[in-house]
Amino acid sequence: MIGAGDRDPLAFPDPDVLHLDRDPNPHLGFGRGSHSCLGSMVGRLEARVVLSVLTSRNALLRLDGEPVVRPSATLRGLRNLPVARA
Ligand code: HEM
Repeated sequence: MIGAGDRDPLAFPDPDVLHLDRDPNPHLGFGRGSHSCLGSMVGRLEARVVLSVLTSRNALLRLDGEPVVRPSATLRGLRNLPVARA
């Protein structure tokens, strides 16, 4: 399980804590090897833009409810992230 590998305490100190500046960060979020994600650069760019907007001093959005986790054993993520204008 990719998700379990990314929580391996032998590979990641504090595996359940989000450290945006983790270094080294050998995560498997985009897979590895010959079938690793072809869109990883697009994904990284999108994440950079979204996180910088959401965390900027003049944030346009605020959390407006509880995030809903998608029930999936393979790919983890949110089904729903309620936000409203700040
Ligand atoms: C944050 C966004 C994304 C994440 C987390 C992600 C993650 C992954 C993962 C885990 C794999 C499987 C690797 C494996 O089988 O071992 C994969 C494969 C793939 N991804 Fe993504 N992906 C993202 C965005 C994208 C985008 C934007 C594109 C296309 C523009 C894309 C295209 C592909 C393709 C074509 C494969 C199959 C590669 C192959 O089997 O050779 N992905 N991705």
